[in-house]
Amino acid sequence: MNSESMMKVYIETYGCQMNLADTEIVLGILSRSGYSHTNNEEEADVVLLNTCSIREHAEEKIRQRLGKLKRRKTSKPELIVGVLGCMAERFRDTLLEKHTVDVVVGPDEYRRLPQLVEKAIYGVKGVGVRLSRTETYDDIIPLRHEGISAWIAVMRGCDKFCTFCVVPFTRGRERSRSLDSIVKEVEQLTLNGVREVTLLGQNVNSYRDSNHDFADLLKAVALVDSSLWVRFTTSNPQDMSNKLIDTIAKYDNVCKYIHLPVQSGSDRILDKMNRAYTRDHYVHLVRKIREVIPNVAITTDIIVGFPTETEDDHLRTISLMEEIEFDGAYMFKYSPREGTPAFKLGDDIPEFVKTRRLGEIISLQQKISQEKNNSLVGCILDVMVDGPSKKSDLQLSGRTTTNKTVVFSSNNVQPGNVVKVNIESASSATLFGRIEE
Ligand code: SAH
Ligand code: F3S
Repeated sequence: MNSESMMKVYIETYGCQMNLADTEIVLGILSRSGYSHTNNEEEADVVLLNTCSIREHAEEKIRQRLGKLKRRKTSKPELIVGVLGCMAERFRDTLLEKHTVDVVVGPDEYRRLPQLVEKAIYGVKGVGVRLSRTETYDDIIPLRHEGISAWIAVMRGCDKFCTFCVVPFTRGRERSRSLDSIVKEVEQLTLNGVREVTLLGQNVNSYRDSNHDFADLLKAVALVDSSLWVRFTTSNPQDMSNKLIDTIAKYDNVCKYIHLPVQSGSDRILDKMNRAYTRDHYVHLVRKIREVIPNVAITTDIIVGFPTETEDDHLRTISLMEEIEFDGAYMFKYSPREGTPAFKLGDDIPEFVKTRRLGEIISLQQKISQEKNNSLVGCILDVMVDGPSKKSDLQLSGRTTTNKTVVFSSNNVQPGNVVKVNIESASSATLFGRIEE
């Protein structure tokens, strides 16, 4: 073993769940080349940031972090600093020059990371930012955190080109892993004690492996072990087939939770966003899902302040939220991203208007979530235990199949156990209860 091969790598992950999964792939690749992983930045020889470009705020955070690392390098010049993920694709040159980063590697070139880090050790900047039509890291064994839950990236990239979104540019074209290799991985994970898997993709339901679609994959994964909970995210309304809805309903261990971003309630804005569905189509889709899958939870993403959004468009978003009553929503102010088609439309909605609109939809959603959660008080729900709750070691926290967080007291249940909890009270974000003896 040479000296490089004993180097310690510290990695920070920003952004989406796909990045969390990619970090485990990166650590898998690096550990195969003899690097060891550390959670202590101080002792690291290599510091990697797995970055996100989705909104300006995400990028700004990383620029600040890089400023700190640049200062650290003055006292530790041999420290290798690397930027991975979406920002690597967008800012290769500024990262290398202005931020004095040593290694810049985009989402499809992680296999080259050991070689590029090695180059950097000898003072040559390591750059790998080509996007691939085929890379799925099918054969890489991710270095996962110990625990009961595992992420599995089953498809990568996005071909939808929503006009506001950088993902099609930073993550490239859609491609899927083979069904067989995913099923084998799930079999192995269950043997290792994993009790819940989440199948990941930017548009997970556009998964395709020759004749197999996402419904086939979901079924195959569900059949590996009937006590394994199977989650998936993110679903695109355009690819939500009847077959998929039926499959979610049919298998008890497929979680009854669908994250289905709508973005806006105005057809005019949906069209400008290139979402390829209308409000009416979305409402019908949700109706069908709720008919076929009783008690399903549906969450969404909403953007306020997209270019040209009028007060009337905004009111349509509000009325859609009232009509659908989502279980939860991730809500954002529009952030212009250079290089996307919407960037050319300008950013004409003033910040204070975006702030007000965002505030309005957040408080509406809180009210709806609170009412939805109140309606569960008195119910007995199955909860898979995650571990101690965030606020108190004396309480446990877990999630229902509908992905609601439940906090309850108990002395003797282990993470991964499924318990019955009697729901006694609720906030807009959490259910509280007592375990059924
Ligand atoms: N299909 C993806 C979506 C990724 S982006 C997934 O796996 O979740 C997540 C959400 O960020 C989007 O649904 C959208 O609501 C929001 N978003 C994307 N680009 C944005 C931008 N330029 N400004 C504000 N929000 C944005
Ligand atoms: Fe982005 Fe739209 Fe794809 S939000 S990830 S371009 S589905």
